Amino acid sequence: MARKSGVLAFLFLATVLNAQEDHVALSDWPAYGGDAAGTRYSSLTQIDRSNVGRLQMAWQFDPGDSPPNGRFQAQPIVVDGILYSVTPGSSVVALDGATGKLKWSWKSGERSVGRGITFWTDGKEQRLLAGFGRYVYAVDAVTGKPFDDFGRGGRIDLHYDLDRDPKKQSVSLTTPGVIYKDLYIVGGRTAESLPASLGDIRAYDVRTGKLRWTFHTIPRPGEYGYQTWPKKAWTYTGAANNWAGMAVDVKRGIVYVPTGSAAADFYGANRVGDDLFANTLLALDAATGKRIWHFQGVKHDIWDRDFPSPPTLVTVEHDGKRVDAVAQTTKQGFVFLFDRANGKPLFPIEYRRVPPSTVEGEVAARTQPFPLKPAPFARQLLTEDMLTTRTPQAHQWAVEQFKTLRSEGLFIPFMVGKETVVFPGFDGGAEWGGSALDPTTGVLYVNANDIAWTSSMRRTLAAASLGRQTYLNQCAACHGENMSSGSAFPSLVDIATRRTRAQVAASIRNGSGRMPGFSSLPPQTLVQLVQYVMSGKAKGAAPASRSPREPKYDFTGYHKWYDPDGYPAVAPPWGTLNAIDLNSGEYAWKIPLGEYPDLAAQGLKDTGTENYGGPIVTAGGLVFIGATNYDKKLRAFDKDTGKLLWESLMVNSGNATPITYEVNGKQYVVIAAFGGYAGTRAAPPGGAFVAFALP
Ligand code: HEC
Repeated sequence: MARKSGVLAFLFLATVLNAQEDHVALSDWPAYGGDAAGTRYSSLTQIDRSNVGRLQMAWQFDPGDSPPNGRFQAQPIVVDGILYSVTPGSSVVALDGATGKLKWSWKSGERSVGRGITFWTDGKEQRLLAGFGRYVYAVDAVTGKPFDDFGRGGRIDLHYDLDRDPKKQSVSLTTPGVIYKDLYIVGGRTAESLPASLGDIRAYDVRTGKLRWTFHTIPRPGEYGYQTWPKKAWTYTGAANNWAGMAVDVKRGIVYVPTGSAAADFYGANRVGDDLFANTLLALDAATGKRIWHFQGVKHDIWDRDFPSPPTLVTVEHDGKRVDAVAQTTKQGFVFLFDRANGKPLFPIEYRRVPPSTVEGEVAARTQPFPLKPAPFARQLLTEDMLTTRTPQAHQWAVEQFKTLRSEGLFIPFMVGKETVVFPGFDGGAEWGGSALDPTTGVLYVNANDIAWTSSMRRTLAAASLGRQTYLNQCAACHGENMSSGSAFPSLVDIATRRTRAQVAASIRNGSGRMPGFSSLPPQTLVQLVQYVMSGKAKGAAPASRSPREPKYDFTGYHKWYDPDGYPAVAPPWGTLNAIDLNSGEYAWKIPLGEYPDLAAQGLKDTGTENYGGPIVTAGGLVFIGATNYDKKLRAFDKDTGKLLWESLMVNSGNATPITYEVNGKQYVVIAAFGGYAGTRAAPPGGAFVAFALP
C-alpha cells in the first residue's frame, strides 16, 4: 500500500466512513487495540497457518532507557509503515517498521509511562498524543517535535479541571486515550484509597489541548445517579475511573467507557449505596460526553472488581438478526454482551442474592449481576477438590490452609480476622491486555488468569506514628505490612541500600508503572513516610490525628495464594486462552496458556500460568499472544482450533499485546518484551521491541 493512502484510509475510517463493519482492512496498526472498535484484528494474510512455522526474528529495538523496575507493556502503533511508541524511559520513538531503525526520539523528561500512544490526523498534520503520568503531550509524528502551544504550556495537565485543588490531585495515564473526530477522550489512573482524585472522563481538543467536555463518574447534585451515594460523597470520595481504555463506535458517535471501583476500594462505609458510575460500562455521546446508557457490573464494589479491560465492538447474529454489540470482559471471568445502541443485554443477566458484610459500618449490595451466557472463562468457586496436587507435600499444605479460609464464591464480603478466597484473583479473569475479535466470525479471544488470591479486613491502626500509619493506609495493600510483599509488588525492605531519600520521595509522589502517585500527601506526611520506608521503623513522628473521614477499617493486602514452593496453591490451569463465539455464546475452544519452564522440565507441562497482555487475531487464521509471565514465549495458535502452530523463545517475557502490520510487501509481528511481570522469578529489567517475519 502506498504510504500516503495509509493515512488517508485511516482518516477515512476515523471520521468519514459509515462502514457496516467496525474494522476496515489496513496494512497498518493505527491505534492501541488495533482500531477504534478495539478488535485487535488484522486483515493481513501473508503469514498464515501453512507458513507461520517458519516465522523468525526480523529485528529488535531496545530503547535502552529503562529505569530500574521499568516495565515495558506498550502496544505500539504503525502508521504508513512507521512504528510509534512510548518507551520505558518516558520517551516517544518512531522506528522504520521494516528494519526497526530509529527515525527520531523525543524525551519527555517525565518518569512514568503508559501502555501506548494515540495517533490523529486531519489528512495534513499528523499528531501523536503521548501520556506520561499526569501529562499528555502532543508530538509532531513527522518531526518528533512537541507542539508548544498545546494544553497548558505544551501539555495537558490531568490534575486540572477536576474542581479540586490541582496541587492535591493524583491522576496518571496507564492506557492511552481514544480519538473521536478532533477529540482526545481520556480517563486515567487514580489512587484507590482516600484521598483519591475524581475519575472524571474528559475530552480535549486534539489541536489546542483545551478541555471540551467532562463526564462526572461520581455524580454531583442533580445529576443522574447522585442518589446512589451519600449526599456529599462527590466531595470526598474519588476514583470510579477509566484506567483500562475505551472503544469508539465511529458511525454512531458513541464512546464506550468501562470504569473501576470507587475509593476506598475495600471499605465503603462512607459511600453506602450502589455508587454509580463506579464499575460501570458507560455509553457516552462522544461529541458531548452525555450519557446514553450504562450498565453497572458490580454494585457498591468492596473487592476491587474493576472493569479491567477495554470493551470490544462486534456485530453478531442474534435471534436471526444482525446486531451491533459491545462485549465487556471482567475480572470475575464474565463476558457481558450488549446491544451497542441501547444497552440491552443480548444474553440474560440474573441479579442474585449475595451475603451481607460483617464489618462494622459496611453495607454490601443485596444482589449482584451474573450473565447466564457465555459461561465464565475462569473458575468461580474454589473447593477442596481443586487444590494443588503438584507434590504430596504441597497438597497437604494446601488442604490445611484451605480449612482456615472462607471460600464461598463471588461477592463474599471480606471479614475481620479470617482470609476470604478471591477466585479468580484480584488480577482476573480478564486483565488490561483486552480481547481480540474476529469480525468475520464473531469469535472473541480472551486470555485469563485462573489462580486464587485471599484477603481480609482489619481495624485501622490508630496509635501508630504518622509514617507507619500512612504506610499502612496507602502502601501496605501492595507492598505488604512489613514491606516485603513476597509476590506481585517490589519489596521495600532494603530500599535504603538501593535508593536515595529523594528518589523514594519522587517514586511516592509520581508513582511509576503500576504504582499510582501520591502527590496529595501533605509535605510533613511525605517526609515521615519516606523516613519510615527508609528506616523500616518510624522515628520521632507525632501520633496520627485521625480525621473523621479516615476509614475505621482497611484491607490487609493482595495475597496471592501460593504454595510454599511459590506455585499457585490451586490445581491448574493457572492461565487460559479462550475462544468464545459471541453469536451463540458457546465456546469454540479453551486451552491452558503458558508454562513454568522448571515444572515443564519435570514433566508438568501445559499448566498455564499467570499472564498479562492480550491477543491479536488475523485473517491469516492465527491468534498471536505473548503475555505469559514465566516462559518468555510468543505463540501463534490456529484461530479455529486453538492448536499451537508456532512459538518463539524471547530474551524477556512479552507482557504486552502484540501488533501486526505490513511494510514493503512484508508482514511483521511485533511485541514489547521486558524483564518479567512478577518481582520474583524475574529476568533483568529493561526490554525491547521484537519483530518477527517470514524469511
Ligand atoms: C497499587 C499498588 C501500590 C501501592 C498502593 C503502592 N505501591 Fe509502591 N510500587 C508498586 C509497584 C508495582 C512498584 C514498581 C514500580 C514500577 O513498576 O515502576 C512500586 C515501586 C515502589 C518504589 C520503588 C521501589 C524500587 O525498588 O525502586 C517505592 C519506594 C515505593 N513503591 C513506595 C511506595 C510507598 C511508600 C507507597 C505508599 C505511599 C506505595 N509504594 C504504594 C505498587 C504500589
